[in-house]
Amino acid sequence: MKPRDHSRLLSVLADEYTRRSPRSAAINKDALRVLVDGGSHSIRLLRPFPPRIREARGAFVTDEDGHRILDFWQGHHANILGHNPEEITNPLSEGFTRGFGLQSGFTDALQVHAAELLCARTGAERVRFTTSGSLATMYAIMLARAATSREKVLKVGGGWHGAQPWGLVGVDYHTDTMHNFEQAESRGLPEGVADQVLVARFNDIGMLEDQFRKHGKSIACFILEPFMASAGSLPASLAFLGAARDLTRKHGTLLIFDEVIAGFRFCAGGTSRVTAIQPDLATFAKIIGGGMPVAAVAGTAQVMELAGRGGGVRFSGGTYSCHPASMLASVAMMRHLVDHENEIYPALATLGEEARRTVERALRDGGLPARCTGDGNDALPGSSMGSVHFPYDQSRPFDSPEQTRNPEVCDVVLSDTVLQLALLLEDVFVMHGLGSISTAHTTQDVSRLGDACLKAARRITALS
Ligand SMILES: Cc1ncc(COP(=O)(O)O)c(C=O)c1O
Repeated sequence: MKPRDHSRLLSVLADEYTRRSPRSAAINKDALRVLVDGGSHSIRLLRPFPPRIREARGAFVTDEDGHRILDFWQGHHANILGHNPEEITNPLSEGFTRGFGLQSGFTDALQVHAAELLCARTGAERVRFTTSGSLATMYAIMLARAATSREKVLKVGGGWHGAQPWGLVGVDYHTDTMHNFEQAESRGLPEGVADQVLVARFNDIGMLEDQFRKHGKSIACFILEPFMASAGSLPASLAFLGAARDLTRKHGTLLIFDEVIAGFRFCAGGTSRVTAIQPDLATFAKIIGGGMPVAAVAGTAQVMELAGRGGGVRFSGGTYSCHPASMLASVAMMRHLVDHENEIYPALATLGEEARRTVERALRDGGLPARCTGDGNDALPGSSMGSVHFPYDQSRPFDSPEQTRNPEVCDVVLSDTVLQLALLLEDVFVMHGLGSISTAHTTQDVSRLGDACLKAARRITALS
């Protein structure tokens, strides 16, 4: 189906949004003079302009116009305890007061505690920290290519592994080509990088076998998200993860779980903790940073030692690697999640389920039948994530990036842009239609989300 044109609807919503947010509008004018597109992260720069936030606590952020916005984006899904939780801010304040927090340029005991926690909860033998998920996946791929002396990187079409050369291939769905998920998504990449990346289909064991049959000898690593977030809140099946483990082992390829989203989201640890499938390398970021820029590559000693003295892989650290305040936040976050695992994760899963069903019900009642993905499965039960989609054919299965990101299968502009702006008019912030639940969210917040979805859907149908 040809994508619908929502430009008139968007312009009416944008006018109303502009009227009620004069401060954010004014700041945006200044921002456009000095920042590219008015900011530094394109997903935050919604149109006509983003709400400029001055405070954030728990489930809410407050913008410069005084709107108290119920937030399901929660720091790109990092804030599993909500915004600025005391569990993290107290140790940070205490650290700064005693003279520990800003950059030291030395090493300390805290990063040992962080690495011990990460190893204990993920089955890894060695860890090296860095500062972003993009860097972590880039280093993991460099380690795999060095360990295997092979060139190719196999990934899942639609997978997001951050902005690094191998990660910027096969992310967006292209309707105008035979190979919808195989293009380089950026100018300026090293020549030939697109040829180094092979693409598999999510949860499709047959195609995975096929790729290994054809290219097994040259594949250095298979990198995948156990839970695909930006591609539409889709969990990998246990069978797919198992096949990935078996095939990579058989072909001498390293298996990399990109757990930047999944890590500590479904349990206080990595995917191997719930699936018993151990990758060779795993990447973590977001939640493990406790709201600070922390990321990690964790894996077998044999592979990770390639980053060490004499190993030859220049994963040797950056100025802000293991930044003191970041490590304070990281240890506080991981310890809290480990100590309260049995209370936190079942509660998140229950509220996640309630949020997904509430959103579907409210949108349907408002005249916009939708599908909310993100339910847990046999690999990752108990999900607190969700995305909203508007498939043109509601009767077809809807469980892969080939559907969720294909504008000919579902109305991507309606879910990602129109609904986001309409919900912002109700003081609710979502990403891809929903986002993630934190421990700061309550059942009242979920019913408020439902009310907002109903109003937004009515507004959209009335204007359409
Ligand atoms: C699965 C996954 N990998 C890697 C990244 C990149 O992480 P960062 O944004 O910290 O560079 C992201 C970011 O959203 C992600 O979701």
